[in-house]
Amino acid sequence: MTDQSNPLPFDSFMNPSLGKYTKIYRDSIENPEKFYEDAGWVLDWYSKWETIIDRTGEPYYRWYVNGKLNISYNAVDRHANGPRRNKAAYIWVDEKGNEKIVTYRGLYRRVNALAKALLEMGVKKGDRIAIYMPMIIEEPVAMLASARIGAVFTVIFSGFGAEAIADRINDCGAKLVITADGGYRRGKFIPLKETVDKALEHTKTVESVIVVKHTGQPVSMTEGRDYWYSDVINDKEEVEPERMDSNDPLFILYTSGTTGKPKGVVHGTGGYGVWVANTMKWAFDPQETDRWWCAADIGWITGHSYIVFAPLILGLTSIIYEGSLDYPGPDQVWKIISYYEVDILYTSPTAIRSLMKYGDEYPKSHNLSSLRVLGSVGEPINPVAWEWYYEKIGNSQCPIIDTYWQTETGGFVISPVTGIGTTLLKPGSATLPLPGIDPVILKQDGGEAAPGEKGLLFLRKPWPGMMIGLNNDDKKYRTLYFGRGKDGYYTGDYAIKDKDGYYWLLGRADEVLKVSGHRIGTVEVEDALLSTGLVAEAGVFGKPHQIKGESIVSFVVLKSDSRMEPSVDAIKEKVRQKFGPLLVPDEVHIVGSLPKTRSGKIMRRIIKAVYQNDIPGDLTTLESEASVDEIKEAIDKFRNEMDGN
Ligand code: WTA
Repeated sequence: MTDQSNPLPFDSFMNPSLGKYTKIYRDSIENPEKFYEDAGWVLDWYSKWETIIDRTGEPYYRWYVNGKLNISYNAVDRHANGPRRNKAAYIWVDEKGNEKIVTYRGLYRRVNALAKALLEMGVKKGDRIAIYMPMIIEEPVAMLASARIGAVFTVIFSGFGAEAIADRINDCGAKLVITADGGYRRGKFIPLKETVDKALEHTKTVESVIVVKHTGQPVSMTEGRDYWYSDVINDKEEVEPERMDSNDPLFILYTSGTTGKPKGVVHGTGGYGVWVANTMKWAFDPQETDRWWCAADIGWITGHSYIVFAPLILGLTSIIYEGSLDYPGPDQVWKIISYYEVDILYTSPTAIRSLMKYGDEYPKSHNLSSLRVLGSVGEPINPVAWEWYYEKIGNSQCPIIDTYWQTETGGFVISPVTGIGTTLLKPGSATLPLPGIDPVILKQDGGEAAPGEKGLLFLRKPWPGMMIGLNNDDKKYRTLYFGRGKDGYYTGDYAIKDKDGYYWLLGRADEVLKVSGHRIGTVEVEDALLSTGLVAEAGVFGKPHQIKGESIVSFVVLKSDSRMEPSVDAIKEKVRQKFGPLLVPDEVHIVGSLPKTRSGKIMRRIIKAVYQNDIPGDLTTLESEASVDEIKEAIDKFRNEMDGN
C-alpha cells in the first residue's frame, strides 16, 4: 500500500519553495502563449515561429508554426563553436572499464562526417533510416547526422530480433540501416549485424547498410549493400544543416499498444526540442559542470530524449554506458558513479530494486557523495525502493525525481521540479504536473474522480512535446488517444490524485505490460507465440514481480498437427530467435483449451483470474458475446487442467 500521508520536507536543500512553481504553473495554464514563447528560446532558430500553436487540425497540434531550425545545430554546432568546444559531450564506458571521451567539437566532426556519407549514399530530406546499435557513441551520432540532413530515423532497440526489425523497417520504409558488427552485454557478444542480415531477407526498401566495427568479431558483408562506417566517412567533411520546419518529423519510435502491431509514434522537431530541454531543466536543474548519467537504453524514448537530445541541447556532459548495471559485479553502477563523480543518476525502479536486493554493503563501499539529484522512470516506484534509493544512495540528501511520461508525450509530464521549486516529495508519488500540463482523472462513466479515487488519467491541454501523429495510422491516433473528445489525450494509465493534488500512477489500464520498465503488449506476445508455428492459441497477461514490476505469463494450446510435441523451452527459444529476448514469456503453460467467447476471442482476464485463484467476477459484463454458461464451462475445464498440471 502506498502511504499518501507522509510527505518528506526538502526545504532544507531545495530552493526556492513551492510558491515559485505555483506561479509558473498558473501562468503556463492561464497564459500559455506567453509561457511557450519564453520556453521556445531554449533553442536557436533560423527564423522565428509565427504562432505558438495551431489547433485547426485537432486532435493534431502544430507547435511554433513556421519556425525554422535544425536540432543537430542546436545539439552540436552551437556548443562546438563556442566556449564548450572542448567540453565532453559524452563519456562512454563499457563493462570492462574501457573509456572514450568525445568533446562537443569531436561530436561535431563525427556528425558532419556521417551526415555527408548519408547524403552521398543517396539519403534525402524526408527519407527514413533505421538504427540498430549497441550503446556506443556512434548511436547518437547516427541520430544527429540523420537530423542534420532532415532524414527521419527510427531506432530499434538492440534487444529485438529479426522479425521485429523487419516489421518496423517495412512500416516506415527505411532505405538505409546503420548498425554495428555487434555489442556486449553481461560479457556476452550480441550479433547485431547477423540479426540485421536476417531481417533484411524480409524487407524490400533497404538499399544500403552502414556497419560500425565495434567488437571486431567477423561478420558477413554483402557486396554493393553493406559498407564499413570507417570506409564511408571522412572527418574533414562539413554539411550545412538542413533548415527544418518546426513541425517536420524528427524520428519515429515504435512502441507497444493494445494491438499486436507496434505503433510508430512520430515526433516533430521544434516542439519536441523545446519540451525535452525545458523539462530536463525544470525537473533536474542540471548545472554546467555536472556529469549526467541516464542509465536507460537509447533504443527507448528515455534515451532519445534524455541521453541524446535534452542534455546535448543544454550543452551538458553525459555518461553513456554499454552494459549491465550489475555486471561484472553487483557494485558496477556504484563504481562508475564514484569514479566519474556523477552528479545526477537517472534510472528505473527495476534497476533500483535489483540493486537493493544485493544489499547495502555494495553502495556503502563506494564514495557516492558526488550525487546531488536522483531520478526514476518507466514504471511506478514502490515506496520501499524509493526510500532505499533516497537513504542509501542519496544519503538522505538528494531529491528523488520520479518522472512520469510516455513515448507519446516526448518528455516528462508529471514530476517533481527541483529547477523551479517543488518542496515536498512523497515516496511513490510522481508529485505534480509540469508547467503546461493539465491532468484530470476520470471515471469510466466520464465523471471526474474524487480525491483519492482511482480513475483514468487524461491530459486536457496539448503541450509542445506531444507526438505529432502515428506513422500511417490516423485512425488509431484519433481513437486510441483522443477518442473522448474534450477530455483530451488519454494516457492509458490508472492514477489517483490525493487531497494535496499529488498524482500517484497505478499502472496501465489497457493490455500493455511494463516488464523491467520495458513496454510490451500482451497481444504482441500472443502474436509472437503464434508465429512460432508451434502454437495454435495463446493467452498472455502480466503477473506482479518483485524486481521486474511485472512478468509475462502465457497459456498456450499446441497445434494439433505438429508431429512432435514441442517443449516449453522450444517455444521460448523460437520466440527468442524471431523477436529477441524481450518478448519471451517468463512462464509458458501448455493446456488443451482456453476459455473463449463465442466469437473466438480468448479471454485473457479470465485466464488471469483463474490462474491467480480469483473469482472471475461478473462474466456478463466482461464478455457479452458468449453465454455465461459457455464461459463457465470453459473456465471449469481450464481450471481442471491447471490443477492437473
Ligand atoms: C509507465 C517510458 C509510473 C506508464 C518513459 C506509462 C510510469 C508507460 C512512470 C510509458 C512513472 C512511465 N511512474 N509509471 N514515473 N514512467 N511509466 O512509453 O504506465 O516506454 O504509460 O515511456 O510507462 O512507457 P514508455
